[in-house]
Amino acid sequence: EHQEKESLYIVLKFATEYFQDILKNHPEGKSIGYSYLRERGFSDAIIQKFELGYSTEAWDGLLKAATEKGYSIDLLEKAGLIILKEEKKYDRFRGRVIFPIHHPSGKPIAFGARMLGSDKKQPKYLNSPETPVYHKSNVLYGMHLAKRPIRQQDNCYLVEGYTDVISLHLCGIENVVASSGTSLTVEQIRLIGRYSKHITVLYDGDPAGLRASLRGIDLILEGGLQARVVVFPDGEDPDSYSRKLGATAFAAYLQQEATDFVVFKTQLLLKEAGKDPLRRTEVAREVVSSIALLQDPMAQAVYIKECSQLLNIDEPVLTAELQKVTRRKA
Ligand code: GTP
Ligand code: MN
Ligand code: MN
Ligand code: MN
Ligand code: MN
Repeated sequence: EHQEKESLYIVLKFATEYFQDILKNHPEGKSIGYSYLRERGFSDAIIQKFELGYSTEAWDGLLKAATEKGYSIDLLEKAGLIILKEEKKYDRFRGRVIFPIHHPSGKPIAFGARMLGSDKKQPKYLNSPETPVYHKSNVLYGMHLAKRPIRQQDNCYLVEGYTDVISLHLCGIENVVASSGTSLTVEQIRLIGRYSKHITVLYDGDPAGLRASLRGIDLILEGGLQARVVVFPDGEDPDSYSRKLGATAFAAYLQQEATDFVVFKTQLLLKEAGKDPLRRTEVAREVVSSIALLQDPMAQAVYIKECSQLLNIDEPVLTAELQKVTRRKA
């Protein structure tokens, strides 16, 4: 089994270099893949840093190159690189820009592959399947580059997408990882927690992003980490917005807009509830249920006070509700 993993790492490394080579040297890679990345504002240096690549439209580009090098069909299939269907075998990723996904040690373990343009019939991103070396719920995109910066800054920015991570690097912000479209997991939070206890969530400025923030935050709190949130204008994500503002203004935006989670959640829910007293009561319950996730009683007390002001509800009432929720959990 150990042997199998080692072989997978080797073929995944081969594939990474193959896709990089196609991007740089193959006519289709240069004219389509490379120009796509340059149009998105990715420099040669950043393309190299993230080991970005391209897969041609051919059905057997990687298949041919890898089998010529002696890699077996079986291994290529186990690595998620080719698909075996009935009598046929073909490359999983075709005509796409390739974002290698790395183990925190820096070894490539999987790929995200973006289509060019916006053909609505295909998924925008294709990802490697689960393999013996890739369990997507344990992985955060960009962690191999972010480990040290997260520790140094004592904060981790959490974004949704590959391109958000890359754009933050272009702004000089390297303490950033992406959950890559999957909802955040306990394992991912634990992984971040090895480097810092502070997470700042930068999800897309759309209803889906906001809902994902709320869910993610509760999980972060349960994990014993501190959560803050930055909200972007509707339709913007960290990639698009950093380009719009430029590096300096974007960094300032992150500083100024970072809001503590309780404040964020309370304000968001209150806005939705309007003046309806029943719905405001529901908001209070919902917020208290988040506070109940905190492991530190001192922090709970501070948050209860804060919320009592935001909700305009007396502190003892909220404290009683907190005790009720806590007893129910025990
Ligand atoms: P760009 O459009 O290239 O800027 O990507 P994005 O990261 O802004 O995409 P989006 O906000 O739509 O999605 C966030 C992340 O979810 C992506 O980076 C992917 O990891 C993942 N994702 C998006 N669309 C798909 C999809 O169709 N299939 C899968 N498996 N993942 C997706
Ligand atoms: Mn698994
Ligand atoms: Mn989105
Ligand atoms: Mn996005
Ligand atoms: Mn985007």
